[in-house]
Amino acid sequence: MKDLQIGVMASGRGSNFQSIIDAIESDYLKNVEISLLITDNAAAYAIERAQKHGIPHLVLKPKEFDSRDAYYEYVALELKKRDIGLVVLAGFMRIVGKPVIDQFPNRIMNIHPALLPSFPGFHGQKQAADYGVKISGCTVHFVDEGMDTGPIIIQAAVSVRDDDTEDALSERILKLEHKIYPEAIRLFAEGRLDVRGHTVIIKGMTYEDGCITNPPLPD
Ligand code: GRF
Repeated sequence: MKDLQIGVMASGRGSNFQSIIDAIESDYLKNVEISLLITDNAAAYAIERAQKHGIPHLVLKPKEFDSRDAYYEYVALELKKRDIGLVVLAGFMRIVGKPVIDQFPNRIMNIHPALLPSFPGFHGQKQAADYGVKISGCTVHFVDEGMDTGPIIIQAAVSVRDDDTEDALSERILKLEHKIYPEAIRLFAEGRLDVRGHTVIIKGMTYEDGCITNPPLPD
């Protein structure tokens, strides 16, 4: 058994789930194993991805439980049963309930397609384009009881173009999502994430002075 067992929760196509699978298979993520996929959607393409890579999955639908709490208590139980050390939300289209958050403090990650705390909730890319920001991006954060409010682990930025459509911007952001999610998990697996208050301290980090300016400055 690998050192870190991951439980993934996804509702849809699962491209972020796939990026984590790929990072494990290419050894970018070492000593890490995805031992369970939980989905709330029997038609999620994420299930096919799990099957292709020999990852067990459970379809758990909230409407089949007496209450929201009962649903998340069951989810927490299934995760605990498998010794999960990190829960990864990869396009799970619900706010995770308290029973799971209580069982996995600072051990649940989410990826959001905007630079939080801007544009939380659904359609972060569209919200950013509609607002007219010049730079947007994506954020991996720990999950607390709020909507996209937990401590931020890693962010990546892209320029927003005047003629951007939601789809075009989403596609450019998604490419970055697939890079930063495995990296956040790598930092976690190496024990380098220390949460102090609302700040995530990354141990042993060296910084680079890179920046994006949009529109670019003349040379
Ligand atoms: C991604 O844009 C992610 O940021 C958001 O939901 C989408 C999931 O996409 N939370 P996928 O299912 O990982 O392809």
